[in-house]
Amino acid sequence: MSSHTSPGASDAPTARKPVTLHRLRDMHAHGEKIAMITAYDASFGALVDAAGVDCILVGDSLGMVLQGHPSTLPVTLDDIVYHTKSVARGNKTAFLIADMPFGSYQENPVQALRNAGVLMAAGAQMVKIEGGGWTPETVRFLVERGVPVCAHLGLTPQSVHALGGYRIQGKDEASAATLRQHAKELADAGASMMVLELMPAKLARQVQADNPQLMTIGIGAGPGTAGQVLVMHDMLHVTRGKLPRFVRNFMEGAASIEDAVHRYVLAVKDGSFPDETLHSY
Ligand code: KIV
Repeated sequence: MSSHTSPGASDAPTARKPVTLHRLRDMHAHGEKIAMITAYDASFGALVDAAGVDCILVGDSLGMVLQGHPSTLPVTLDDIVYHTKSVARGNKTAFLIADMPFGSYQENPVQALRNAGVLMAAGAQMVKIEGGGWTPETVRFLVERGVPVCAHLGLTPQSVHALGGYRIQGKDEASAATLRQHAKELADAGASMMVLELMPAKLARQVQADNPQLMTIGIGAGPGTAGQVLVMHDMLHVTRGKLPRFVRNFMEGAASIEDAVHRYVLAVKDGSFPDETLHSY
């Protein structure tokens, strides 16, 4: 594709209907796994949509993979707005979720609603917020006002300094019980989806079993969740250095980037990724 062609414009028209929250709930109810990936611009928004992902996350991981920061903390609301608008222009059918960056929702529910509104106006269909304990009030406030919410528990990268690094969460009985309690409170507050990051596969399975309606999306949380998410640069092995063991290199044996993402979608759907021993804890 030439750089003068608008992303997606040269693609054959896709037969797929837009993926809605209703459709995702239906997939979950019927046991179909949900395939999510991050993307940050129009070209990759179009590519991952054409490759068949159900959901695209404009993650604040962009602070690390695009901007080169050591954490997600410097990412601003304006950054997420810019990248959400870009992805929305390329994407035609996948369900689009935007991360609320650090500092954009912690003050109070009104601040969260104001900033969630900016992300929804940019093209997001759901916003994601990190943490448990204090977050259910904010989740309820947003959901009651028409903003679908994805919660995020386990390793919550915006709290990297409080957590003492990128470590597996919920390993001992007490922290696993707290995490399960937080998940229940968030589900009761109306979160439709929940990213479960870097935790024992057994714990993620328990969270899903405790909250059958909730669409749990794992990353380093084993195969027992309703779906999976990976940072695109990691699964394409664009990211330099040692990658966590939950990442599989989908470029290996793939004919193209689109083929690699398509293989990821197929592997999530047929349950072959993640592997209980190779990619889980
Ligand atoms: O920012 C991000 O990409 C994320 C995923 C790792 C779930 O939050």
